[in-house]
Amino acid sequence: MKIISTVREMQAACRSLRKTGSLGLAPTMGALHDGHLSLVRRAKAENDAVAVSIFVNPAQFAPGEDYDTYPRRLAEDCAKLEAAGVDLLFAPSVEQMYPSGAASFVEVAGLGDRLDGASRPGHFRGVATVVAKLFHIVDPDRAYFGQKDAAQVAVLRAMVRGLHFPLQLVVCPIVREPSGLAMSSRNLKLSAAEKDRALALSRALQAAARLLGNGETRAAALRAAMLSHLSGQDGVRLDYAEVVHPETLLPVADTRQGALLAVAAWVGQTRLIDNLLVEASSVEHPRTASMPEQIEEMHV
Ligand code: PAF
Repeated sequence: MKIISTVREMQAACRSLRKTGSLGLAPTMGALHDGHLSLVRRAKAENDAVAVSIFVNPAQFAPGEDYDTYPRRLAEDCAKLEAAGVDLLFAPSVEQMYPSGAASFVEVAGLGDRLDGASRPGHFRGVATVVAKLFHIVDPDRAYFGQKDAAQVAVLRAMVRGLHFPLQLVVCPIVREPSGLAMSSRNLKLSAAEKDRALALSRALQAAARLLGNGETRAAALRAAMLSHLSGQDGVRLDYAEVVHPETLLPVADTRQGALLAVAAWVGQTRLIDNLLVEASSVEHPRTASMPEQIEEMHV
């Protein structure tokens, strides 16, 4: 695996790889877990070469957020990516990605202010900007993201469409710990007690999944079920529990046309997110086809 830290060198290395075949990119902020490695595996299966980026992007953290304490594990990450057969690792400095005087940003108006964008103003402007930069530097055929960041997926899909990036955005399923907790680099910041409390998020979704499995489609009922696990829990502070359209991120009243059940909460000092995607169901079969599997995966 070649490790590259400058934009120029990365552009040249990617150009040379693309001459002989397809190139997949998995953008990350490092502290890699099995969720990230599932992106890498999928990228390897679908492309001739794979690039991974590790960059803790200051532009997506507001002042007072956890930019300084975000986990950084470069040596361990390199070993994992080497073992996974990655061809290029791009690990640039902040100065490389944001040279002084850089004043160009990408904003996905509307979408960028919903869900996490509402709780973290400017977050998706930072995400869209850095991902657009990475797409220009790497010019991948396919780019891989995790479904755990469902609002990010909606914002990036809109960006790819709106700015005509000639690539396929591939979204990979959430990977969970055996307890049901969605894998996240921020889980490294949780104490053992906080890890237990963090299960409130997946349990909230499991409760909604059970209702969906019994034919409930009303957003209000599903939201109430989620809130019962996230409100008033010791050490857990609700950010949001919403039932929204997966692409517009606007609230829906009913899940029959498909919906995203999304939750966010603070566990101690750490903000965590999780979600459940509900596919559109037909009138004859009000239960969504994928629900039983999702329930099983979520260890209900
Ligand atoms: O999902 C992440 O890890 C980050 O938001 C991303 C896409 C790498 C942009 O910094």
